[in-house]
Amino acid sequence: MADSAGTVAFVDPEPTPLALLLLGHGSDPDSERGVDCPGTLPAPSDPGLVERARAAKDALGDRVFILGHHYQRDEVIAFADVTGDSFKLAQQAAAHPEADYIVFCGVHFMAESADILTSSSQQVVLPDLAAGCSMADMAEISQVEECWRVLQEAGVADVTVPITYMNSTAAIKAFTGRHGGAVCTSSNAERSLAWAFEQGEKVLFLPDQHLGRNTAVRDLGLSLDDCVVYNPNKPNGGLTAEQLRDARMILWRGHCSVHGRFTPDCVDEVRERIPGVTVIVHPECRYDVVKKADVVGSTEKIIATISAAAPGTAWAVGTELNLVKRLALANPDKEIAYLDRTVCYCSTMNRIDLPHLVWALESLVAGTVVNRIEVDPDTAHWARVALDRMLALPGVSTAAKPD
Ligand code: 13P
Ligand code: SF4
Repeated sequence: MADSAGTVAFVDPEPTPLALLLLGHGSDPDSERGVDCPGTLPAPSDPGLVERARAAKDALGDRVFILGHHYQRDEVIAFADVTGDSFKLAQQAAAHPEADYIVFCGVHFMAESADILTSSSQQVVLPDLAAGCSMADMAEISQVEECWRVLQEAGVADVTVPITYMNSTAAIKAFTGRHGGAVCTSSNAERSLAWAFEQGEKVLFLPDQHLGRNTAVRDLGLSLDDCVVYNPNKPNGGLTAEQLRDARMILWRGHCSVHGRFTPDCVDEVRERIPGVTVIVHPECRYDVVKKADVVGSTEKIIATISAAAPGTAWAVGTELNLVKRLALANPDKEIAYLDRTVCYCSTMNRIDLPHLVWALESLVAGTVVNRIEVDPDTAHWARVALDRMLALPGVSTAAKPD
């Protein structure tokens, strides 16, 4: 996988077998791609949308709490009670038991985690059910169970601890909980992984190979040769029993299609274009990009680092474009550039727009809960075990955890 210079060949994105459905239309109950909106969406051209969203939010008062992920559109962020990365938003969902409704402006796996962490009397709403995540879709529970069978046959399952990135379905979080593992986010992956290596000899890291590799090699000092990539589309993951026995990190072959676009050339090019620039990237980027960057961190860390930087400094940021554009606006005394020349929004995050938010809020005002995200009790129980293991890690602040 790695050449003598330690560079890692980028694994090309898997062809996506499922096309995105049109905004709010069409139905595919077997995946996160979307279902019909059971009502009429306001027209995006309606000039009264902002006023309608404000009126509906005011009418709901404390009964609604709106969470906004950093990658959401400006028009949606304007109505968020709190913004944050996936870890902060999970904490915030749990910290607002007074709200009957949590409206999650983010993607499906985040809303599932919010449902798991909130009380049974609270209802979580995702304004557009087509807001899934292509990375989460790269690991299906049946594939993960097959992988575990392969590890059992190789005689390594007993010494392997599964760690799943927050960006995974509730079913995979539950699998992780059942097998003694934990969830991690990009802000605590190092601590989760260090904990896992105290529990066992190997880690099965799901579903983002890049976050897993970056954390193991950059933060924990493992070598690239300690890592193997399990390809769910190949028999036995494309690995021999010997490779599985030798490996310490078994990385699932998944990636983020947004962060996977940044290349080492982007870093070289921006350094030439902006002398003295500091390159800061999200750990979902490829290892060879992260290696060339100056700072690596979750979306919260990227915001905190740039906000605290001296006026006049220049930054090239490798993460989703909505966030980078807001960073540039919030820091007019600094030069903020996007790491890639090509525009790169997260298409599924962008599914949540003002018409969907207005529709969800006005439906709640009318007494109808639309697009509720509800995880079945058994899955929720075991997923929560994995989430609680993360929240209990030293240095990871604990959220209120209602039953
Ligand atoms: P964080 O919110 O944990 O930084 O992750 C970024 C992301 O890709 C969310 O989907
Ligand atoms: Fe998924 Fe990447 Fe979009 Fe995050 S940015 S929701 S990981 S596709």
